[in-house]
Amino acid sequence: MTEQPLLDIRNLYLDIKTFDGTSHVLNGVNLTLRRGAVMGLVGETGCGKTLTGLSVSRLVATPPGNYPRGEIWFDGQDVMNMSEAQMRKLRGRRIAMIFQDPATNLNPVFKISEQMIDVALHIVAETGDTSLLGKSTSAGGQRQAARQRSIELLEHVGIADAARRIDGYPHEFSGGMRQRVLIAMALLGQPQLLIADEPTTALDVSVQAQILRLFNGLVKEFNLSVLLITHNLGVVAQLCDEVAVMYAGNIVESGAARRVFKTPSHPYTQGLLRSIPTPQTKRGELEGVPGNIPNLIHPPGGCRFAPRCPKAMPVCDTTFPAMTALEPDHQLACYLYTKETGTQTNADKRR
Ligand SMILES: Nc1ncnc2c1ncn2[C@@H]1O[C@H](COP(=O)(O)OP(=O)(O)O)[C@@H](O)[C@H]1O
Ligand code: SF4
Ligand SMILES: [Mg+2]
Repeated sequence: MTEQPLLDIRNLYLDIKTFDGTSHVLNGVNLTLRRGAVMGLVGETGCGKTLTGLSVSRLVATPPGNYPRGEIWFDGQDVMNMSEAQMRKLRGRRIAMIFQDPATNLNPVFKISEQMIDVALHIVAETGDTSLLGKSTSAGGQRQAARQRSIELLEHVGIADAARRIDGYPHEFSGGMRQRVLIAMALLGQPQLLIADEPTTALDVSVQAQILRLFNGLVKEFNLSVLLITHNLGVVAQLCDEVAVMYAGNIVESGAARRVFKTPSHPYTQGLLRSIPTPQTKRGELEGVPGNIPNLIHPPGGCRFAPRCPKAMPVCDTTFPAMTALEPDHQLACYLYTKETGTQTNADKRR
């Protein structure tokens, strides 16, 4: 029997009402994350990566957002049909999120200790799970335990002299150190799933590498599954077992990272890989993917990549291609590999 995945997003659509009209931002997303896996979710800016991550914790406001169809299953639970009270038990506890800019996610006027203790006590209050902070049930005892746990986690993520530094303010920490603090904070709830949205993008290259190494260790030590959102394929190659390539609201290619990097098959993935510079790349030689992602208020009717695709055929303009398995660990949605149309088309969806 195959093991139940930790996260299973099935045919998820999301529309967002904007001033100019309804934007069809997610267009039937399918994504499966195995327990213990690190999956990179990649694609250009504006492809829907962040909205996919936020949807897992149901953090997209509805309205203006609306999910016309689709399912999200986390650890066998139906996230889309959970009450807000049930969601609060999941967020921060079993699903933790880390965002791009550590500066904006820490409050500048409070000490790190105050912020971490608050997060820990909040998780305990929301979940009723006092075991996270040891045996003490008195308020003072819980606070002390929360502080102790925070110090341990800060040490764990590489902050030296954490017992003293925990009483510092965010501005006393460098960008990389602030990201470490946020990672420690995310671990307070002992999450099963960590969604990290561009966690290294705001950092210097040398610091990025340190944070990636840290991630690598934590995944094993804390038995985490990770959805790593990034526009940087190099980051995925370094860190991920699996990769899902997103384009304009669809996953267009996914599978084992080794396989996808070795035989990238979707024209979009091929273009993305051509846009990574190597030491041999000469100035002006980088091909990349010419053009821009489409307007999502009036998206292309078939494959959303068709207007930029060098291999587009007439069928590509009418209906979205079905996801097809090339190998057991490699899937993609492209008419070059299948004659099947997907279950939903943009036209169906708007009916
Ligand atoms: N709150 C919002 N209202 C309207 N459109 C949004 C909102 N958030 C994101 N979008 C649009 O949805 C698309 C996907 O956004 P996002 O998930 O942030 O992309 P990514 O993380 O891949 O850069 C973009 O076109 C973006 O402009
Ligand atoms: S379905 Fe057609 S337009 Fe889309 S990527 Fe494949 S060949 Fe290109
Ligand atoms: Mg984003």
